[in-house]
Amino acid sequence: MLHDVDFECYPEEHCKKAPELLKEIDASEELIHAVCSHGYGICSEVEPKHEMEKILFATDELTGLIWAAAKMRPSKSTKDMEVSSLKKKFKDKKFAAGCSREIIIKGAEMIGWDLNTLFENTILAMREIEDKVSEELEKIKE
Ligand SMILES: [Fe+2]
Repeated sequence: MLHDVDFECYPEEHCKKAPELLKEIDASEELIHAVCSHGYGICSEVEPKHEMEKILFATDELTGLIWAAAKMRPSKSTKDMEVSSLKKKFKDKKFAAGCSREIIIKGAEMIGWDLNTLFENTILAMREIEDKVSEELEKIKE
């Protein structure tokens, strides 16, 4: 939840302003490393090391692609999304073009998963929290 802590107020300094903000709340060096590493090779030179950091790196782009694909479905949900459907969207470079396929591939390699495994695990994780996230978003709108 914290990985984009600096993005809203400092989009031009994304992953660079985060350490300063997190130090203000006495965040640990491990937490700061984890936050900054999600932008590795994009806006940060901090390399993901911990497994959680590698998964965050891989799924930050992928969750955007999955959610864009979910919104195109009649159900507007990940609940009935199959890996094969996501693979088609992944291969269509014009679909959600802002979601970097290269980063997703690099992330899967870092974790040591093939793309099918990354896609399946990420769909399942998003499916599990979809209702809760929707509820929270509705509260914000109120
Ligand atoms: Fe980010």
